[in-house]
Amino acid sequence: MDYFLVRKKFLEYFERQGHRVVSSSSLLPDDPSVLLTTAGVQQFKKYYTGELDPMRDFGGRRVASAQKCFRTSDIDEVGDDTHLTFFEMLGNFSFGDYLKEESIRFGYEFIVKELGVDVSRIEVSVFEGTDGVPRDEESFRIWREEMGIPEERIHFSGMEDNFWGPTGKNGPCGPTTEIYVDGIEVWNIVFNQFFCSGSREELLSGKASLENLSSPGVDTGMGLERLVTIINAKKSVYEVGPLQKIAEEIGGEVTEEREQRMIADHLRSALFLISDGVMPSNKEVGYVLRRLIRRVLARERKIPYEKIFEQIEGIYKGLYDLRAHEAFQVLTKERGKFEKSLGKGLREMASIMKIGAKEAFRLYESYGLSYEVIKDRGEGRLAFTRAEFDAEMEKHREVSKAGMEKKFGGHGLILDTGELKAGSEEEVKKVTRLHTATHLLQAALREVLGPEVKQAGSDITSERLRFDYAAPRKLTEEELRQVETWVRNMVSEDLLVSYEEMPIEEAKRTGALYFFKEKYPERVKVYYVGKSLDEAISKEFCGGPHVTHTGEVGEFQIVKDEAVGAGIRRIRAVVK
Ligand code: SER
Repeated sequence: MDYFLVRKKFLEYFERQGHRVVSSSSLLPDDPSVLLTTAGVQQFKKYYTGELDPMRDFGGRRVASAQKCFRTSDIDEVGDDTHLTFFEMLGNFSFGDYLKEESIRFGYEFIVKELGVDVSRIEVSVFEGTDGVPRDEESFRIWREEMGIPEERIHFSGMEDNFWGPTGKNGPCGPTTEIYVDGIEVWNIVFNQFFCSGSREELLSGKASLENLSSPGVDTGMGLERLVTIINAKKSVYEVGPLQKIAEEIGGEVTEEREQRMIADHLRSALFLISDGVMPSNKEVGYVLRRLIRRVLARERKIPYEKIFEQIEGIYKGLYDLRAHEAFQVLTKERGKFEKSLGKGLREMASIMKIGAKEAFRLYESYGLSYEVIKDRGEGRLAFTRAEFDAEMEKHREVSKAGMEKKFGGHGLILDTGELKAGSEEEVKKVTRLHTATHLLQAALREVLGPEVKQAGSDITSERLRFDYAAPRKLTEEELRQVETWVRNMVSEDLLVSYEEMPIEEAKRTGALYFFKEKYPERVKVYYVGKSLDEAISKEFCGGPHVTHTGEVGEFQIVKDEAVGAGIRRIRAVVK
């Protein structure tokens, strides 16, 4: 079923169910605490809090929309099968009108009856409850008894997956139920019951509280690209809808598939941002746009940009007013600036005698020289591998991602992966060293105590690492020294720290350690210490960042080993 047909069917279906169809709002939200529109619900926040009256604005309490959305957090993954920056999100919303019963029925009916998806392909998830918010028995009952979904296809999960929001510094939020087709989440149905006094991060860390909303209701969101991919049994979001057409057009000029897709995604996103009034700059949204354009220009000069922009404008005609001509002018101007910067970068590069991964990354980051350009022009002076360059990129990526998260309502940290926390670039360097030290520590504990040692928690600040582990017994003084010495020896050997990315099942077969409590995506990174994954002295599922060689960790010292619960011990250590 075609992309635009699914879109149309969705809006018509909800119109028949008494919803007013509302146009998409701008990608630039009317909320200073949020950088970009990331969900359909954003333009409707005030209808749940009672600040705005839906009767006055929509003549009712039910609306539906197809909303332009933009998510920057996975920008470096764009071009694989599933990631993109811009997408449309379909959603239906109730402001103090229907709740669980109807929203679940609408969701089920649309997927099964309107789209014709076989019921056997469907699974759902339901909120399992947390302090102060009970397990969602009602949704469970509706799915099982009224929709007839067998119990084994209804899964419970917690705050991470089945509790949405808020966006920005505070706002509506609540438990969710999700619809999965062929094991992939397609629809998120949020029961907006609460107003959260702080950001999502503050809520998760216990620093924000929940109050009942004045107009509790429903907010749902379904990524259109992903939905169309799944119902058409395609493998990639780049094989359907507008993206497929754009990628095809670019395919005439660029042969590598991942590049084609990345360029298609970025050009579409750039056009949408420019049409919403964004100009390239060095900060916030302007910087997002600048990065998108430069990432494309760094790879491809020969694309007929004007024609591609016009084609995209045509695809969305009647739905969005896109400004292809203006986008082309912006791109041309940006190209001039970029080329100047590249020239500077090449001159800078000429002055470096030995180019290591760090210098290479700086050339990339400050002047836009790509890995390929550095490789071509730096012959004889290069002292890094692709893996080291990638590791450097990765380190940076975690930092910029955290910066974005901060913008979406963090608390003064520039890096916060949950495990690692840092407030400045200096601290990022420190926690990165401590992070690699934590991997070495776990390996050392297993060397000394045996493989029964299991990670139970890890928390890293710029001051220290804190590692909780389940162990059969307490370490003696002597053994503690052995652990410390083992880590120090590995540091003095200055071993390579690198990673390989692979499907989760394959990763498990490598024998890499992983944390049972955590949910991992389909593809994971396995960080290892040593010449190769086979010869590694440490391998763990991990998102990074890490140093590139153990020598960077510095002097490792255990400062405390104590009990924190039955069978659980906690080590604190520092690096100097
Ligand atoms: N706001 C929720 C989401 O973005 C549902 O629309 O997933």
